[in-house]
Amino acid sequence: MIVYLNGSFPPKDEATISPDDRGFLFGDGIYEVLHVYDGHVFRTESHWRRLRSGLEKIRLAGCEHLDWSSICNELVRQNKLDQGEATIYLQITRGPAPRKHAFPVNPTPTIYGFAAPYSSLTAKRLSGYRAVTIPDERWLRCDIKSISLLGNVLANQAAADAGVDESILIRDGRATEGSHSTFAAVFDGVIWTAPLGNLILPSITREVVAEICRAREWPVREEFIEEGKLIHADELMVWSTTTEVMPVVELNGKPIGNGQPGPVAGRLHEEYARVIEQEKGVLV
Ligand code: PDD
Repeated sequence: MIVYLNGSFPPKDEATISPDDRGFLFGDGIYEVLHVYDGHVFRTESHWRRLRSGLEKIRLAGCEHLDWSSICNELVRQNKLDQGEATIYLQITRGPAPRKHAFPVNPTPTIYGFAAPYSSLTAKRLSGYRAVTIPDERWLRCDIKSISLLGNVLANQAAADAGVDESILIRDGRATEGSHSTFAAVFDGVIWTAPLGNLILPSITREVVAEICRAREWPVREEFIEEGKLIHADELMVWSTTTEVMPVVELNGKPIGNGQPGPVAGRLHEEYARVIEQEKGVLV
C-alpha cells in the first residue's frame, strides 16, 4: 500500500512518524474519511470545508497550501483503486514536539493519508443494522472531527459486546448520534435527526440526505429524539460516508416497526445512490 506522509507517497512500511507526535501523545489532531466510487472521490468540497473548519476550531495553521483533492486522487491512482469502492483516511496532527500540553511554538503538522478497498454494505442493507442505546459520555465538542475517539471506541465496543452493529448515544435522555454515524428516525413520514451544534458531528452524508429531502419535499425535523420515543419510531436509520443510508431494524433486542428495513430508508438510499452515480462523471 502506498500512503501519503508530509508531501511524499512512500510504501506504508517506509512511512515513519515520531513517537513525540502530538497525535500519538495527546490525540491532538483531526481526520476525515471519504468514500471513493470507481475512482471518483465523493463530495470532496464538503469534506474540505469541514476539514478547514476543524483546523480553525483546533487552531492549527500550516496546511493552507495543501491541495487535498490532489492528494486523494494520487492515493487512488497509486493504489489502483479506480474501479469499485474504496475509502480514504486523512489525518492532520499538531506534529512532533516535546510533551507539553500547550501548543508548541511554530508546530509542523503531520499529515498522513491512506486509501484502501472497501466492501460495499449492499447485503447488510437488506437485513439492516441491529443497535443498542448507551450513554453518550463524550466531550462537549463533538462537532470537531477529533482523532481522540476513545468515547466513540468504547461506545462501539459496547455494540460489539452486545453482538450488534452500532450503538445509539443518549445524552440527557435524548439521542445524539451513532458511535460513528448520524442517527435518524421516522415518525409518521417525517424524518427526525438531531440539530447541528456541539453535540454531533456535522455529517456530510446528512448534508446530502438533506439536499435529497429538500428536492423531493420530504419533511425533515432537526430535533433531538427523546430516548423513550425511539422504540415507537416507524423506522430508525444511521447515515455515514462509509455506511451511506443504513436501516436499523432492532434496538436493544426489540424490533422497530415490523423488524424489516423500512420504505423511507429504502427510498433515501435509492436517491443517495443516484447522487453518487450522477457525480461519478464529474472530475475533482
Ligand atoms: N464517521 N457522527 C460520527 C460520530 C461519526 O464518526 C461519523 C462518521 C458521522 C457521519 O459523518 P459523515 O457523514 O461525514 O461520514 C457522524 C466516520 C465514517 C469514521 O469515523 O469512520
